Amino acid sequence: MNFFIDTADIEEIKTALEWGLVDGVTTNPSLVAKTGRTLKEVVDDIVKVVDGPISVEVVSMDAEGMIAEGRELAKIHENIVIKVPMNLEGLKACRTLADEEIGVNMTLVFSPMQALLAAKAGALFVSPFVGRLDDISSSGMELIHDIVQIYDNYGYDTEVLVASVRSPMHVYEAAMGGADVCTIPFNVIGQLVKHPLTDSGIEKFMKDWENVPK
Ligand code: E4P
Repeated sequence: MNFFIDTADIEEIKTALEWGLVDGVTTNPSLVAKTGRTLKEVVDDIVKVVDGPISVEVVSMDAEGMIAEGRELAKIHENIVIKVPMNLEGLKACRTLADEEIGVNMTLVFSPMQALLAAKAGALFVSPFVGRLDDISSSGMELIHDIVQIYDNYGYDTEVLVASVRSPMHVYEAAMGGADVCTIPFNVIGQLVKHPLTDSGIEKFMKDWENVPK
């Protein structure tokens, strides 16, 4: 399973790259706003360091605007993937951009049928938001299983990118469910490595090492 980092913060990206855990990046308008920088500054920095898909979201509400934004963003770097919202305008933009061989990530996906539409429109990635579904007492992971099954049934190439990840359990379940990609916030990547038995094991080895004659 590929790991994308769900952030627009270049320092978080650089740190996770040093850990060898960044296969790509996803951003969205909220994450870019948190940096206090322009979209151009953010994207220019990310493309310099990341060798993998970098999702950048359009903000137009109509297909023509989304397509125009997508074409401009795609010119910045070949790794840029255009993040487009799941609605009829977004599907129209997805079809056009995909036909121009520009990668599209259909975002804000909350149902299996929306995911089927994304695949039919030629999306490179589909982003089901598991955390936001869990927030409203709906099962995010059930959605992932459904999408993986539907894509398998028909051999769609669209990659299932698990988004809105809030905890290590989401990453575990995404991996068990056969998702292609999980986009993970920086703090959750840090949590994945932790196990109390690892920490106590290191402590014991270090203590015993003191008794080895040197
Ligand atoms: C990623 O593609 C999404 O924009 C992101 O995972 C949304 O996460 P949130 O629901 O925590 O805002």
